[in-house]
Amino acid sequence: MITKPKGTYDLIGLDSKLYQYIYNTVNEYMINYHYEFIRTPVFEATELFHRTVGDNTDIVTKETYDFVDRGNRNITLRPEGTAGVVRSVIENKLYGNRNDALKYYYIETMYRYERPQAGRYRELTQFGVEVFNSNSIMIDAEVISLGYNILKDLGIDNFTVQINSLGDKESRENYTMALKEYLKPHIEELCSDCQERFKKNPLRILDCKVDKDNSILKNVPKLNSYLNKESLDRYNKLKTLLTHLDIDYEENSSLVRGLDYYDDIVWEYVTDNDNLALGGGGRYNHLVKNLGGPEMPAIGFGMGIDRVINELKKILEGKGEIPHNIDVYIMGISEEEKIAGLKIAQDLRLNNVITEINNSDLSFKSQFKVADMLQAKFLLILNNNDLAKGLINVKDNATKEEIKVDENEIVDYIIGNL
Ligand code: HAM
Repeated sequence: MITKPKGTYDLIGLDSKLYQYIYNTVNEYMINYHYEFIRTPVFEATELFHRTVGDNTDIVTKETYDFVDRGNRNITLRPEGTAGVVRSVIENKLYGNRNDALKYYYIETMYRYERPQAGRYRELTQFGVEVFNSNSIMIDAEVISLGYNILKDLGIDNFTVQINSLGDKESRENYTMALKEYLKPHIEELCSDCQERFKKNPLRILDCKVDKDNSILKNVPKLNSYLNKESLDRYNKLKTLLTHLDIDYEENSSLVRGLDYYDDIVWEYVTDNDNLALGGGGRYNHLVKNLGGPEMPAIGFGMGIDRVINELKKILEGKGEIPHNIDVYIMGISEEEKIAGLKIAQDLRLNNVITEINNSDLSFKSQFKVADMLQAKFLLILNNNDLAKGLINVKDNATKEEIKVDENEIVDYIIGNL
């Protein structure tokens, strides 16, 4: 038997239902918040990710799926969504002469060669947004609250938005110097990855998972105290705006994120129980220019749908609930009953009632079992005698009460009682 590649999974059963639920909710939110859907290729030139995500990041050094194609090009499966969207904005000159913000969203698979474990896959799916052409702190507040509101609406309550500011270039350089100065005498006591980071990307030492309880790291100078006035003002304004929008947040001064393109505000949506990031993002005001585009501020986040699915499953299992499948199951035995049922099913479906009908030769007993398995709320039990009188036998599958309804009123009856 050929099995699926390590670190992947088939989207089936409850996972598939929850995916659709998340997918539909995200699309609704994006329409209301006025974001435009964008799709970029699943593979891009390898160089794109080296120049965006960063040469020294874990993602690029250890995790990309790279290959040389038949035309001898170096290609990489996208490990994240920002790089492709930025490339597209520049290549298609989407900014044109616009003065307003360009707001895009995507729902896509990404590929990272990670060691598979809980919440870590090699094929993952993110929904994300990228906003260009505005440095207004109001956009930061909008984007952070968008991710927050979607998670809440999906039914996830046990998470916190953690925020931090990396400051602008000047603030960050000052801090990096102070951090290196502080860490220098202790470098031998840090893990081997951190010793590497010390040389290439010292900020990343702050969120090291191995050394997180090491007292050396617990006492590092605080990033916030190195913010210059402008960065500090922005950060303080953001906090005021988040409170104004009723977004609960926590400050986390060691939140630095794992990609090189960030500056200024960064954040993550972190679960309270197991401290897992469901999503994260930040400003990347210099990336468009660095990739050959115009000077253009930008900000965005990515949310791990696979992790959100797992969170929702835990919540549903805790409540002993799984979402119901269908509204109506139509039952019949004879040819006439099934043909009458087909038309009723069409009428219900055209009125947004989720309907399934028995088309097979199952006995009534087996049809009841199917209806229970599908968790139908109502059963329409068709029989020739009732149909001859223009009546339909309706059973409420929860209360088990039965009632006869005029066939012309069946759609209204079901809609009125759902
Ligand atoms: P990221 O933090 O690398 O950011 O990924 C965002 C989210 O994707 C994570 O919080 C996590 O939920 C999910 N994720 C990442 N890796 C895996 C994995 N191996 N398995 C399952 N889920 C995973 C970015 O990707 C940035 N592009 C976000 C962004 C957009 N920043 C600005 N704009």
